[in-house]
Amino acid sequence: MNRLFLPVMAMAMFIPAIATGADLPLAGFAQDQAAQAQPVYAEKCALCHGDALQGGDHGPALKGAGFWTAWQGQPARKLYSRIISTMPYNDPGTLTPDETLAITALIARTNGAADGPSHAAASELDAIALPPVR
Ligand code: HEC
Repeated sequence: MNRLFLPVMAMAMFIPAIATGADLPLAGFAQDQAAQAQPVYAEKCALCHGDALQGGDHGPALKGAGFWTAWQGQPARKLYSRIISTMPYNDPGTLTPDETLAITALIARTNGAADGPSHAAASELDAIALPPVR
């Protein structure tokens, strides 16, 4: 066995551990969890992304195939992280974890995520994948 073989084998063994979302159960969120996001969404997101997530002059749509194709199958954590670290675009870093979780639920449900646990926690988002377009 040469010197390269072992490191290559070791890397191959770790590749499946990188979360692609491919083998994860599909995310579900409770209606009331998504509903909690409405006031925050209206105050901090609707200006750019539209009242109904349809997009507008200052931001892209957060629903529909054009948006969701890039997100479906990804761990739900990715969407949560994208939101909490980069949004609102004009004031990033101001959302609380609970607000971000609720907004993640709102976006996922709007794009077709089924009913799920009544209190899906942020710590569970690594283990669930965003579902395909409905
Ligand atoms: C001042 C305008 C503005 C506000 C307010 C804003 N956004 Fe955005 N958002 C943008 C723009 C512009 C982009 C595209 C540029 C980028 O990706 O950074 C974007 C991108 C995004 C994306 C990625 C879209 C994609 O196609 O993957 C998400 C998700 C998102 N915003 C969520 C939110 C949420 C949730 C809020 C409220 C907490 C919010 N945004 C508030 C302007 C805004």
